[in-house]
Parts: sequence; C-alpha cells; structure tokens
Amino acid sequence: MASGDSVLKQTMQAIEEKEIDTSRRLRVGLIGTGWIAEAHVKEYLKFPDVDIVALADLIPGKAERFYRKYGVDVDKVHLYPDHKSMLANEQLDAVSVCTYNVTHAECAIDALKAGVNVLLEKPFTVTLQEAVDVMRAEKESGKLLSIGFQPRMDPNMQQIKKIVSSGALGEVYYIQTGGGRRRGIPNNTFIEKKTAGIGALGDIGCYSLDMVLNAIGYPKPLTVSGYTSNFFGTNPLYSGPDQTHTAEENAARFSVDDFAAAFIRLEGGVILDFRISWAMHLDTPGDTVILGKKGALRIPSTECWNGTVGGEMTLYTDTAGLQTETKIPILRAPKPLFEMKLRSFLDAIKEGKSAPVPSSQILYNQAIIDGIERSAQLGREIEIDIPEI
Ligand SMILES: NC(=O)c1ccc[n+]([C@@H]2O[C@H](COP(=O)([O-])OP(=O)(O)OC[C@H]3O[C@@H](n4cnc5c(N)ncnc54)[C@H](O)[C@@H]3O)[C@@H](O)[C@H]2O)c1
Repeated sequence: MASGDSVLKQTMQAIEEKEIDTSRRLRVGLIGTGWIAEAHVKEYLKFPDVDIVALADLIPGKAERFYRKYGVDVDKVHLYPDHKSMLANEQLDAVSVCTYNVTHAECAIDALKAGVNVLLEKPFTVTLQEAVDVMRAEKESGKLLSIGFQPRMDPNMQQIKKIVSSGALGEVYYIQTGGGRRRGIPNNTFIEKKTAGIGALGDIGCYSLDMVLNAIGYPKPLTVSGYTSNFFGTNPLYSGPDQTHTAEENAARFSVDDFAAAFIRLEGGVILDFRISWAMHLDTPGDTVILGKKGALRIPSTECWNGTVGGEMTLYTDTAGLQTETKIPILRAPKPLFEMKLRSFLDAIKEGKSAPVPSSQILYNQAIIDGIERSAQLGREIEIDIPEI
C-alpha cells in the first residue's frame, strides 16, 4: 500500500486535475451536528458523488435544525438521537465523527465495528489508550480511518517536509514548536473536562506537534516532562461570556488546561521543545524552529494560532563559508483545505488507498499529548509506553 504522504500527493494532484467520478456514489453520515459539522456538510454538499443520508446528535432537535439550515435534502436524510442508533439502522460508506473530544473514541470504534469508513475530527482522542483502542478496531475492521488534520493539505506544510527531506538542514537535532494566542479561549463544549477532556494542549497543540513530527517522519516519542495550567480560563476577566453563560459561569465551568509546555525526547536523539496557549500576556511564545547540523528553518507562527504557516519561512545555511538566508515564498493551496481534507478521504475510500492522515502517525502525536497531561499531574518526567496495536 502507498504511504499516507504519497496518497496525499497523488490526491492533491487528482483534486486539481480530475473530474469526480459519479458512477459510484457514497452514502455519508455525520455523528455530531455542532460547529465543525457545518464545515463538513458544506463540503459534502459540493461533491456530486456524495449523498448525506443520516445525521445524529445527542441534543434533541439539533440535527433537524442543522439540516434545515444547510438545505440537506429532507426526504433523503434520517435523523438519530445518538451514533449507535444511526449505525444500527443505516448502511453507510462513511461517517464524519464531529463530536466533542471525549466521544471521539467511542463513536469511531462503533463506526469501524459497523464496517463504516471514518473521518475522525482532531484531536485523535483524549488519551493514548483510547487511540490504541480505536486503532485496534481499525485493524480488525479493515476499514479506512483518517484523522481530520486539514493543515496537512496546505502546500506550505508539505514544503516544510520537503525541505527537511531534501537534506538542506542535515540531521535534525532540536525543534521548538507550538503556538499561542494572547486571548483565544473558545467556549461551549471546549472548556469542560466532561466534554473536551483536554484544553489547548489537544485542541491546537495537536497541530503544532503534527507540523513538525510529520516533517521529520514521525519518530517515536520516548520521554516527556510536561506542564499545564489554567490561570486564564478560570478567571472571569478572561473567560468571557457566550450565548448561554456569563463570564463567571464560564470561569466556574472551565476544567481543562489553557496553557501547556513540555520537553520531549524523540527516538533518534531529537529534542522537541513545545508550548501552546489559548490565552497569556504575550502574542506568541515564538516561531517554530527546526535546527539541523547543516541548516535551520524558521516557520513564523500565526497571530491566532490555528496550525498553519504564518508567513514566509527562512532557511539558514552556510554557503561556501558565507552565512546565507533564503526566503521560502508562501504557496497557495489549489482548493480550500477543508475541501481537500474531505475529498482526499472520499477518494481514498473509492480508490482503495490508505488514509491521507493515518492513525499510525497520529498515535505518536496523541502519545505526546497524553504524556504531557500525565507528567503534569505527576510533576515529573515520564517514559512514554505505547501498547502494541
Ligand atoms: N478541524 C478543525 O478545524 C476543527 C475546528 C473546530 C473543532 N474541531 C473538532 O471538532 C470536534 C467538535 O467540535 P465542535 O465545535 O463542533 O463541538 P460542538 O460541541 O459544537 O458539537 C459536538 C456535537 O457532538 C454531539 N455528540 C457528542 N457525542 C455524540 C454521540 N455519541 N452521538 C451523536 N452526537 C454526539 C454533541 O451533542 C454536540 O452537538 C472537536 O473534537 C474539535 O476539536 C475541529
């Protein structure tokens, strides 16, 4: 089977060049009809080979309001009060799991066991054990599981990997990554442990980790010393109100991290210095920096960290004894990243390819997140043990 990267490359070319084959149609369901499900539905509706046939949400009436808003064909869609009843009653080719983090694992496992291909929103899961359980279900089912990291579709992200693979940096030994927002605490289900499980660490930390781990070939994480805090989310001054809660209520509900930092050792002797923040008294904790023995790459952070490249990258090298800096121009994606995320998933199903963003890579991303959380609780460095799948 082709690797995730080569599938992605082929798919991006195909997206630019090929007409969509409508001779095989795909029956698609959505589990969870909250905020991110909107982005999924909008893209699925653009594809001439997709029929959205089922929607499930735990909140009564939410799925119905949702489909009316997006003009999903009422006669063709069945609505369900949870994912289990949907999977029991529908013959589906694929589902998008768009639930809050704590139900990612359960929904993905049940869908795979029902023989359905799964596009699972990021972060993969809350804990490492959940990720392992999902991958065991994936293996047993033989179905396709892709994790919803749309920044992977960004040609600038792919350029980072190309630069590392080209050897321009030489052997990579140190990486500093992460991103921050001065004020950027989300609300709704993101701030409670019972729905989100983890805060900034999982929500936007998973993007920073993927940016650099993907570039260097996802080496196995070995040890981590992590720290988390939530000084801002728990303070009404910064938590802010939303449609249904006052700032005081949101501060009282806030039960996840809003800042995390970690020092991680990766197989092959690479050091990963990580920090992430939903809120702090600073605009950014710094750009992403990859240091190699022959060169270094600086990747500017975005103002409101969302996992993408914030501007021209700089490649630092010595050329014939001179210290040189090369600007890497920003590249334009051929289509919106979300569209490519969904299309690459659907094309992989139709063409029998492996997942565009495979669980086998994101497992290490999740192992680091899980390790930071556990190390922070214990207040010391821990070893990362990844169970056999
Ligand atoms: N890729 C991206 O850019 C991006 C952006 C935002 C959010 N997300 C991810 O998407 C996920 C959802 O975020 P959101 O903002 O849409 O959350 P949300 O709270 O608005 O929506 C989640 C919905 O899932 C439903 N749900 C939970 N468990 C269910 C189950 N077992 N069966 C049926 N419905 C169930 C809830 O009732 C809720 O309506 C999160 O994991 C988040 O990290 C990804």
